[in-house]
Amino acid sequence: MFASLVLLWVFIWIAILHFKSRRPKNFPPGPLNVPLLGSIFHLSLENPLKDFEKLRKSYGDVYSIFLGREPAVVINGVKAMKEAMVTKAADFAGRPQGLFVNELVDGKGVIMADYGSKWREQRRFGLTTLRNFGLGKNSMEERIHDEIKHIISTLEKNIGKTMSPRVMFHNAASNIICQVLFARRYTYDDELIKLFVGIFNEVSKIINGPWATLYDSFPIIRNLPLPFQKAFKKMENLSRRMVSEHRETRVPGEPRDFLDCYLDELEKVIYSVSCYTKSSFSEEELIIYLLNLHFAGTDTTSNTLLTGFLYLMNYPHIQGNTTPPCLVYVIFVMQAVIHEVQRMTNIVPLSIFHRTTKDTELMAYSIGTIVIPNLSSVLFEEGHGEFVRPGAFIKLPFICGQEDGVLRLAVWVGSCIHKLYVCNPHTHNNF
Ligand SMILES: *[C@@H]1O[C@H](CO)[C@@H](O)[C@H](O)[C@H]1NC(C)=O
Ligand SMILES: *[C@@H]1O[C@H](CO)[C@@H](O)[C@H](O)[C@H]1NC(C)=O
Repeated sequence: MFASLVLLWVFIWIAILHFKSRRPKNFPPGPLNVPLLGSIFHLSLENPLKDFEKLRKSYGDVYSIFLGREPAVVINGVKAMKEAMVTKAADFAGRPQGLFVNELVDGKGVIMADYGSKWREQRRFGLTTLRNFGLGKNSMEERIHDEIKHIISTLEKNIGKTMSPRVMFHNAASNIICQVLFARRYTYDDELIKLFVGIFNEVSKIINGPWATLYDSFPIIRNLPLPFQKAFKKMENLSRRMVSEHRETRVPGEPRDFLDCYLDELEKVIYSVSCYTKSSFSEEELIIYLLNLHFAGTDTTSNTLLTGFLYLMNYPHIQGNTTPPCLVYVIFVMQAVIHEVQRMTNIVPLSIFHRTTKDTELMAYSIGTIVIPNLSSVLFEEGHGEFVRPGAFIKLPFICGQEDGVLRLAVWVGSCIHKLYVCNPHTHNNF
């Protein structure tokens, strides 16, 4: 009797769970959802990318999976991506909350902030301040030029030897953003910057590793003291240290950098705060904001440059040892190479997850949930003529954009490879 009651109870419980985690009406199709576990059996924890490819083949460009109990829609291909991210940008502009990456930063900062007034306020401040410190202006170019000199001299010290450029590129990229954030440049063997860069690498691995998937799939484990929390606390501590150093040396109203500007803003807010408006500015926000900008400005650029150098090594003819016909030609080729490098590098293949801001439609499906934009699927889609020609890197087509950021990067890479020739020590033995 007791056994059958238990059985009945288990049965009802599973039925309820199953019902709860079913796909809503007119929702994009996808693999079977296992109650409590989501689609985890369909995905490998180490590298789920291959499994996703199978799912796209079976279910089409817009399909759904379950992250634990929460459904998520994966968007593939230029057509669907354009509809979501361009045509209906505001509908798709949210960020999921309560995921691993949110918990890590405790809902603070801008990268993971949801679409709304806080995000708007912090973003506006960020854009204005970064512009004041040279974003899109000559002063930024000078900073980059200075850093290039250090890169070149490091490379020159290693002529004829083998070296790993990884740490050098991370330091260089970090230095450029550090000058904006903290008005400071660090030599490549500085202990503090080594610490920062080391922790960024560690945290980046954690975010892309199995912990994130487990954490999002099994809410039960969230209260355990998990190993990655220490790494994150260390990173937060470094940022906190920057803030307290700045507090001691700043002159109010005379900001030296982004951090000072934020502290000025914080003071204004404290003086003018009324009981009715709650400002989104706070020191805790600042600490994560700094990490957001520092991390995003370091990891993306350095990984792009690293991949660029890998391609230069593997396609040495791009390193151009013949005299170019004219400067315009050089800039043209340089832009094409950089666009190709950015395409092939594909630094954040699944973007940062989005969330719909209201119930909406995509490719005739009804969607109101987490959205995973598959950026690789766009970068490697053939036949649209917008980005891609298969094998483009080798043939160097002229796919030029006009943004000046690209030009600056072009100058950067250009001045490195103008002077030096990089090659792969494993395939090249006469250097
Ligand atoms: C994204 O697209 C690429 C290229 O088409 C594919 O290999 C990958 O499996 C896709 N990932 C997802 C999550 O659909
Ligand atoms: C962070 O800093 C606090 C106080 O300065 C210290 O007690 C703590 O051990 C530090 N945590 C880590 C992980 O470095």
